[in-house]
Amino acid sequence: MPDRPDLKFKALVARKTDDGNTTLSVEERQTSDLPDHNVLIRVHYSSLNYKDALSATGNPGVTKSYPHTPGIDAAGVVEWSDDKRFGTGDNVLVTGYDLGQNTAGGFGEYVCVPAGWVVRLPEGLTLRESMILGTAGFTAALGVQKIMGQEVDTESGPVLVTGATGGVGSLAVAILSRAGYTVIAVTGKRDQTSFLKELGASEVISRSDVTDVPEAPLLSSRWAAAIDTVGGEMLDAVLRQTGHNGVVACCGNILGGKLETSIYPLILRGVSLMGIDSGNCLMEDRLQIWKNLADAWKPSNLEVISRNCTLDDLPGEIEKILQGGQAGRVLVTLRD
Ligand SMILES: NC(=O)c1ccc[n+]([C@@H]2O[C@H](COP(=O)([O-])OP(=O)(O)OC[C@H]3O[C@@H](n4cnc5c(N)ncnc54)[C@H](OP(=O)(O)O)[C@@H]3O)[C@@H](O)[C@H]2O)c1
Repeated sequence: MPDRPDLKFKALVARKTDDGNTTLSVEERQTSDLPDHNVLIRVHYSSLNYKDALSATGNPGVTKSYPHTPGIDAAGVVEWSDDKRFGTGDNVLVTGYDLGQNTAGGFGEYVCVPAGWVVRLPEGLTLRESMILGTAGFTAALGVQKIMGQEVDTESGPVLVTGATGGVGSLAVAILSRAGYTVIAVTGKRDQTSFLKELGASEVISRSDVTDVPEAPLLSSRWAAAIDTVGGEMLDAVLRQTGHNGVVACCGNILGGKLETSIYPLILRGVSLMGIDSGNCLMEDRLQIWKNLADAWKPSNLEVISRNCTLDDLPGEIEKILQGGQAGRVLVTLRD
């Protein structure tokens, strides 16, 4: 087995300044700077997720030590491996685990990761498509799996998606629609109604249509299930309007980390509140989800959902996602 090659590459680097701020710049690095793991991957595509924006702006809950290269997603070609599961030239992807948190991430032209994090690119997806999906699509698919696992089917009633124009939200709308569900999309961006309809939403409603409701512990049932990407008062209102034996799959904390809600949807309607942790999903389940995303759940409109950017464009895109201003996915191209 040859030694790991030492190559120059470009990466977006976040640095903490003495006054506690964070700067971002594209810098030249060496692969010998990367951690000593089994698989060196030449990254072709990454994508922007909300967590990347937190890492890029110094959030200690995501990244403890700087300088650091964010990017929780990466897809590319194996350059070198000392693990027999992967060989030079294999097309692979990595999402979650510690990538981009405290391990240098996909906003660099190379990543070096443990073989146990690496997924072989499933048949039916290109590297580019796998990163339009990325963690956002994977998380949305875990939400769909939770709903299906509780036997909420396409006849049970509509499924609500909150934060619908966001990365997870837009892909949840597209995957649910592809799987045959009637989807109600909740958004603060009414100018994106036609985008959400194009993704497959049957109805588009505003955030206040969900949250401006009486404080009663149980409200009239409006949906059979939901994928909530927002948390806080949105999740509380969603739970109280979910029907009998419904499912609410939650993944996000845009409105904060606390949930104050009523127990009655759970104990009088049998509603299940299910959490999603995409980062640490078991490999066996991970492979099945990627297989579904490459086949039966693959949205037909992936290109409509995504915009392209380069490493140089990322600081502006990061600012925009922090303001809740992105619609769809930002694909980061490192090598076409
Ligand atoms: N648990 C997991 O495994 C996992 C995985 C991925 C993401 N996440 C979390 O899921 C959340 C969404 O991630 P993302 O990457 O999809 O982020 P994103 O692209 O920024 O989407 C978030 C969306 O939330 C909505 N939103 C923003 N501010 C809001 C507010 N004040 N009130 C209500 N809605 C608001 C916006 O959609 P509209 O304008 O359409 O309403 C926004 O586009 C984040 O909290 C992220 O950390 C968790």
